[in-house]
Amino acid sequence: MTSVTTATDLTKGTASRSAEARKGRILVVDDEANARNALAELLDDAGYSVSTAADGRTALLQLEQADPDVVLTDLKMPSMDGLTLIKTGRPLSPHATFIVMTAFATIDTAVQAIKLGAESYLTKPLELDAVIAIVDRALERTRLSREAAELRARVDDRFQLGNIIGEHPSMQRLMKNVAQVAGSRATVLIHGETGTGKELIAAAIHQNSKRKDRPFIRLNCASLSETLLESELFGHERGSFTGAMSRREGRFKQADGGTLFLDEVSEIPPSVQIKLLRFLQEREFERVGGNETLKVDVRVVAATNRHLKQRVDEGRFREDLYYRLKVVQLDVPPLRVRRSDIPLLAHAFLRKYAEENDRQVQGLSDEALQHLMIYPWPGNVRELENAIERAVVMCQGDLIRRDDMPTSAHGDLQNGSVMALIPGITMAELERIAILRTLDAVDGSTARAAEILGISQRKIQYRVKEWGYQAPTLD
Ligand SMILES: Nc1ncnc2c1ncn2[C@@H]1O[C@H](COP(=O)(O)OP(=O)(O)OP(=O)(O)O)[C@@H](O)[C@H]1O
Ligand SMILES: [Mg+2]
Repeated sequence: MTSVTTATDLTKGTASRSAEARKGRILVVDDEANARNALAELLDDAGYSVSTAADGRTALLQLEQADPDVVLTDLKMPSMDGLTLIKTGRPLSPHATFIVMTAFATIDTAVQAIKLGAESYLTKPLELDAVIAIVDRALERTRLSREAAELRARVDDRFQLGNIIGEHPSMQRLMKNVAQVAGSRATVLIHGETGTGKELIAAAIHQNSKRKDRPFIRLNCASLSETLLESELFGHERGSFTGAMSRREGRFKQADGGTLFLDEVSEIPPSVQIKLLRFLQEREFERVGGNETLKVDVRVVAATNRHLKQRVDEGRFREDLYYRLKVVQLDVPPLRVRRSDIPLLAHAFLRKYAEENDRQVQGLSDEALQHLMIYPWPGNVRELENAIERAVVMCQGDLIRRDDMPTSAHGDLQNGSVMALIPGITMAELERIAILRTLDAVDGSTARAAEILGISQRKIQYRVKEWGYQAPTLD
């Protein structure tokens, strides 16, 4: 852009007062001096930092160098019209919000301008209130756009595995561990509360291994009866049980050369535990009702949202199998202990669901984000994802507001407004809030929490197990 000789225009305009205290940088583009100066003065008086350009080329230079928040441009200008300015200028200042002004407002040009990325249009003669309202909205849009880009850049910068998002140190450490173990055949046990991303991590392990072109087979061990689970895993011979009409291969066979993901591994009944143990030790098994010994090359990744050690202590899970499974154990932290990841996740889900639903949602209002930051997320990332999806679908404008969030009993606690939820909240919810918040405050020590709450430690442990709550000191 060195050929442009009007650089002195840059310092003209009315951007004379200190820019820092100002409400935002506005660029006014109009070939007509009177209109240009009048608008600039008006905006300057209203507290914005204003610069002006008399033609499209000067405006482009300003876009590149001054990175304005909002551009108010005339449509009909001699050398370069407003539409061309938007088209050419957008890449130079990707976050700037464009507003077109025209005296000959026809639906056509306005629609065209908006297609090119203008936010809205103003018709001349301008009305002060309308200008201020539109400029303020535009500033908000620019701010969100900058914020979203910054969050995106942060995600891109960070160490990332597959679709796993997380820059909190605990997640960064986890991803490094995932990358490290992925290459080996070591059995991995992934432990974490519901919705923390265990399956995502299992998939990342597979994707980052030499097995990635071989099958990734998943089985939820809690969803099948004992007989069916055994046959599902190892296959069966014809007639081995009622309904077994023909020989069938199991998941182990299907996963040959690849990875078998055993979800909710804690729910495997004892008879199947023995068979799984044998596979992990000998790499071999027989089909249900068969004698032929089969050998397959399968890497096992298991997940649980329960404390498997506790199941061992209760005599419900074989200790030898427990140790075979947790050759490597990965703990996925609950969302509430890595709250700094919430904005990143929320924006990623927002983009995903806005695109999926063809909605022009730009971001989250401050109150909405604040709500997300204080909410305890018992359902972890899955719950956050669902909340954002719902908000994207429900939201009216281009911004998700607090009202688009599910109203939940636990949400507003840290504002001290738990009292405001009464009446309207059940005793069970109240108990849950009290126990979880106290546990969080004492780093998960059930003994300390029991003391504070004045109830028995056993009761807390019982509840905590029921909810699948994970605290760092419990295991
Ligand atoms: N770190 C993350 N980044 C991006 N998306 C995530 C992350 N963690 C979880 N998710 C998303 O949240 C949802 C739940 O994750 P996933 O199914 O892996 O959880 P889970 O731990 O297996 O839960 P459950 O114990 O209930 O089976 C998925 O849609 C997943 O894509
Ligand atoms: Mg899962």
